[in-house]
Amino acid sequence: MPIVNRVAAFAEDIAAWRRDFHENPELDYDVHRTAGIVAEKLKSFGCDEVVAGIGRTGVVAVIKGRLPGDKVIGMRADMDALPIMEATGKPYASKTPGKMHACGHDGHTAMLLGAAKYLAETRNFAGTAVVIFQPAEEGGGGGKAMVDDGMMDRFGVTEVYGMHNMPGLPVGAFALRPGPLMAAADRFTIEIEGKGAHAAKPHDSIDTVFILSQIVSALQGVVARNVDPLESAVLSTTMIHAGDAYNVLPQYGSLKGTVRTLKPEVQDLVERRISEVAQGIAAMHGAKCTVDYARGYPVTRNHESQTAFAARVAGEVVGGDNVNLDAPPVMGAEDFSYMLESRPGAFIFMGNGDTAGLHHHEYDFDDNAIPVGVSYWARLVETSMPT
Ligand code: NI
Repeated sequence: MPIVNRVAAFAEDIAAWRRDFHENPELDYDVHRTAGIVAEKLKSFGCDEVVAGIGRTGVVAVIKGRLPGDKVIGMRADMDALPIMEATGKPYASKTPGKMHACGHDGHTAMLLGAAKYLAETRNFAGTAVVIFQPAEEGGGGGKAMVDDGMMDRFGVTEVYGMHNMPGLPVGAFALRPGPLMAAADRFTIEIEGKGAHAAKPHDSIDTVFILSQIVSALQGVVARNVDPLESAVLSTTMIHAGDAYNVLPQYGSLKGTVRTLKPEVQDLVERRISEVAQGIAAMHGAKCTVDYARGYPVTRNHESQTAFAARVAGEVVGGDNVNLDAPPVMGAEDFSYMLESRPGAFIFMGNGDTAGLHHHEYDFDDNAIPVGVSYWARLVETSMPT
């Protein structure tokens, strides 16, 4: 059972919706135009219930199958864009300078709308399908906001599924794995207070810049010397700020960065060691040090049986040879993780072909992937809840 015929028949319409979203990108929770169009279309498809304003600007719709059933399958798309100046040169490029759909969420939203249209039209399943459109995936935690708003209980969701396009993977291919698929993403800030002095009198100072540079070097030892070499961790110092003049040793300075891990014990270890290393180096020089470690999106952890099921459905759409069930984890993060912490489910990558990478100013979602993604959603519901 390859691409669903009825889906292929209106793939052009879905591509037109996608291009309209692409032309009108919105950031974070301010996805009012996009969410408005999503809600309006879901109503026009005849969904049984359409609720806006969940997790601030999220939209959820309920589609009941022709027969009743215990299962309620949730499917999620993200609606937000990124603060990037688009350089695709496409006729449907962003009309708002500095905002761009550079992660393909325009495609995700259009595909899930396409699936909702198909499911509301055919209702060839026994149970309930719930389509979830979330704001603020790009750092704002919109997925968490929707879960915290009680979405899962309110709609009785029993399993939840998510999908993201992946440049570099051919169109018509899928990739996923059971267990950790994407990393936890944390942030750290280290502030140093030394003792300011004339740059020609270093012996009167406690040199904040010297201390910060030692901390940057020593932090590389956390992953290299503390984390088990068979585990995964990324520790990147990405910002360092101190000083305003050639001839002044500054009193204050800070450095900031990100930590990516796939396991809680590795995350705990890295958090602890960052603090110990920074405090230890500061103490060695007699400086004051404060460390703030903020946990962000948790690990996106696929549940075993739902992952096997998702892979089987993907295989029905594109052929088993085109589904990689042993995809390597990605150290990027994804706030679908909160939905997977709340309900069993699976996140899957769908090929976007040989395009620029995600978050690149020349990236574009490939409309040829639309029938593939929509068929996956449609078959996921029909296969999981057969009549
Ligand atoms: Ni994304």
